[in-house]
Amino acid sequence: MVEVNSPSDILLSPISTQPTSLTPDRVNAPPVPALGEGSDLEDTDSGYSGSSVIGYETKTLPSYVTDYRFEYGRRYHAFHDGAYWGPNDKHAEVLQELAHRMYYTTLGNRLYLAPLVTPQEILDVGTGTGIWAIETADEYPSARVTGVDLSPIQPSFVPPNCSFEVDDVTMPWTYASNRFDLIHVREMFGSIPDWDTFFRQCWECLRPGGYVEVVEHSVEPISEDGGLGSNHIYPLWGESIALAGQASGKSFSIWRDSAQRLKDTGFQDVVRLNYRWPTHGSGTDARLCELGRQNQIRLHHEAEDISLRLLTSTLKWPYKLAQDFIAQMRFVLKHDETHAYVPVTVVYGRKPDRTSNTHH
Ligand SMILES: C[S@@+](CC[C@H](N)C(=O)[O-])C[C@H]1O[C@@H](n2cnc3c(N)ncnc32)[C@H](O)[C@@H]1O
Repeated sequence: MVEVNSPSDILLSPISTQPTSLTPDRVNAPPVPALGEGSDLEDTDSGYSGSSVIGYETKTLPSYVTDYRFEYGRRYHAFHDGAYWGPNDKHAEVLQELAHRMYYTTLGNRLYLAPLVTPQEILDVGTGTGIWAIETADEYPSARVTGVDLSPIQPSFVPPNCSFEVDDVTMPWTYASNRFDLIHVREMFGSIPDWDTFFRQCWECLRPGGYVEVVEHSVEPISEDGGLGSNHIYPLWGESIALAGQASGKSFSIWRDSAQRLKDTGFQDVVRLNYRWPTHGSGTDARLCELGRQNQIRLHHEAEDISLRLLTSTLKWPYKLAQDFIAQMRFVLKHDETHAYVPVTVVYGRKPDRTSNTHH
């Protein structure tokens, strides 16, 4: 049984709350049109058989996939309703694409770091807008790239070697054993209840010699000079998200744990690379300053995306209290002189070349 702190336990900080553009009026905001309304998916053939929702680029999706849920003016996925904390509306899409650019810069203008030269079968788990899958398909035209997600928010016009599927990756996988050269996992924090089972499924579906790559960041900004008191909004923020992760049974700490978990699964030559995304744009390193500015903008907007559902639905905070908390985070991100950063890790590991396909 998880002990969930009350909002008053969390809101110890004397930081002044500034007005936010995300006022409670958003509750009455008109819903964003659901995908399919006016989109090119509407014009296409209908027809799904059984429970499969695979191959939706040529079909009309069933309503249990597209009847999105709306909460406080934000749009959430419908398939396996409630499984994921983040919205799937245009606002969320824009932030995902900004994050993609940040990861691309961080990785030295590369899409992945695992030492694979010409991967042929690639899976992108929790593909989101599909931007990583699309760019990877463009860069490796001989590869087949599959993106899988709860939400069908990916564009219809994509490279011919790229396709998307709607599925829940926490369910038993139906991909063939030994199929993929590369499985890419990015920002699945707070989405996977059992990472060991998840990595065993990756193992099973990777060919011997194939790689899994896990790219994640922490949700708690850390002071660069140790100057953050425990009442600062950053640790309070990190604590609240961690509590929500505990309450939902889906931790946000995979950025820290992934290397050990890959080793425990039996992956070899596991490599962990550590990066920092500053929460501000000052400093002497031009690349880090640019990343810091982007991170500041991203976190400022994403404060609501990450936490609104976690605070209101998972931790049962009243909406107004959740928005006040989000406003504090945004205010500090915008005005505070605190020099903090968010740890980012890229971890990859190889399934051994010769294996009986059994993991540890
Ligand atoms: C933070 S977004 C990251 C998107 C993408 N990986 C990227 O880095 O651009 C997490 C994505 O994982 C998807 N997701 C979460 N839980 C999932 C599940 N159980 N099965 C499939 N997709 C899931 C969400 O719908 C969302 O699109």
